[in-house]
Formats: sequence, structure tokens, C-alpha cells
Amino acid sequence: MVFARGNLRAKLWIIGDAPGADEDAQGVPFSGKAGQLLDKILEAAGVGQDEVFIANTVLCRPPGNRVPTNDEIAACAVHRNALLDLWQPPLVVLLGATAARTFLAGNRLADLRGQRVERDERAYYPTFHPAYLLRDPSKKALAWQDWQKVRDALRGLPLDDSGEHVEQADEAVEAARSLVPYAGQSVMTPEGTGRLMQVFVERCAVVLDIRPAKVTFFPTRVLAELLLRQEAV
Ligand code: URA
Repeated sequence: MVFARGNLRAKLWIIGDAPGADEDAQGVPFSGKAGQLLDKILEAAGVGQDEVFIANTVLCRPPGNRVPTNDEIAACAVHRNALLDLWQPPLVVLLGATAARTFLAGNRLADLRGQRVERDERAYYPTFHPAYLLRDPSKKALAWQDWQKVRDALRGLPLDDSGEHVEQADEAVEAARSLVPYAGQSVMTPEGTGRLMQVFVERCAVVLDIRPAKVTFFPTRVLAELLLRQEAV
């Protein structure tokens, strides 16, 4: 599973399609050639690495780098939506056709590119995927126009206030983080023994596979406390 890189608190999130071979090997999104181009674009736009959070529409590499299937995209929906709900980034750049159709309900990148799309109280900026720009450099000028809009929107945002939301989120993230080392291991829960399948942060929830084909959601905080008290290992 390839999670993300950058700053979860960033106002600007950048979402690609799926990890490729380099990302799969390193566990870091956009760590190959497309990622190098993305980093150059950010640098040219004067956007620091600590000002962005970079993730993908799906967490795992589709075999042979094929386009993710609808089932694979659906399987990561909880994870994607949990992160967006919790951190509420105001600006999201969608790189390429898969991200555009996933976040903007079936719309084609060709119809959306270059626009600012307001939805769910945030602004989405669909643009070319850097891997596509590597294949067709003639599109770089158009992409740069898109990125200038993104940069201007980022610089135009009101300054941070240290709201309660961030503190609550911090607690949830701490609890979720403490559970990560247990992923894949057996844990004892109030419902019995199960395998900790996935840790994510929507309403502090954890997915547990209690029996084959049964998935149970637990608040991460509850499970983290149980583990802390050595009742659940
Ligand atoms: N392409 C993507 O969409 N994501 C990556 O992480 C790498 C390449």
C-alpha cells in the first residue's frame, strides 16, 4: 500500500491515479519520473513541499500499470473520503483522467481541464497528469496555465486560525498512528480475535477482519486504548 507524502495539514492536495513501479518499490507516491516532473512544477510555481499533500486515487499498484478498475477505485473510497473529511483541504489538484472521473462524478478530463470546479466546499483543479506531459511535452504550456491558477488560489487563501478542528484531528491521527504497527496482526477486540486489516482516520475508525468475509469498524481511539492497556494484543 502506498499512502501519501507531504503535509496532511496542507491547504493544497494533489491526487494522482495509482502508484507505479517506483512508488510500489519505495512506498512513496510520485517518487519516479512523473514525480520528478511534478516536483519541478511545484518548484517553478514557488510552492514548497511542506505546502502540499500528495496522494493517489487508489492505494495499490494495478498490475502492469493498467488503469485502475471501478472496483479498485471503489475499494479505496472510504480511505479517500475519510482523509478529505478529516482534513478538509480547500484546494485539490486532480492529476489525470482517473482522478478527474473519480472526484468529479464521471466527468472526462478533456471536458474539465483548466477549470476550477467548486464541489463539497472545496475547489478542484483537474489538469494533465505529469506522466502524460512526459509523453506529450507540447501540453506543458497548457498545464502551466492550470498550475498558475492553482498557485494564485493557494496564495489567495485566508491565513490559518488555530481552530478546534485541527486539535481533534491531531488526537485521531495519534490514535490511528499508534495502531499502524499492529496492521496485519491478530488483535483481541470486544467482539473477539480478529486481524487488523486497515487503519484510517474517518471518525477515528479502524477496519477489522473478525471472521473471513466479516469486516467490523472500530473507533481508533477505543482500539488504541485497549492495546495500550495490553488487553487486546
Ligand atoms: N502516477 C500516479 O498517478 N501516481 C504515482 O504515485 C506515480 C505515478
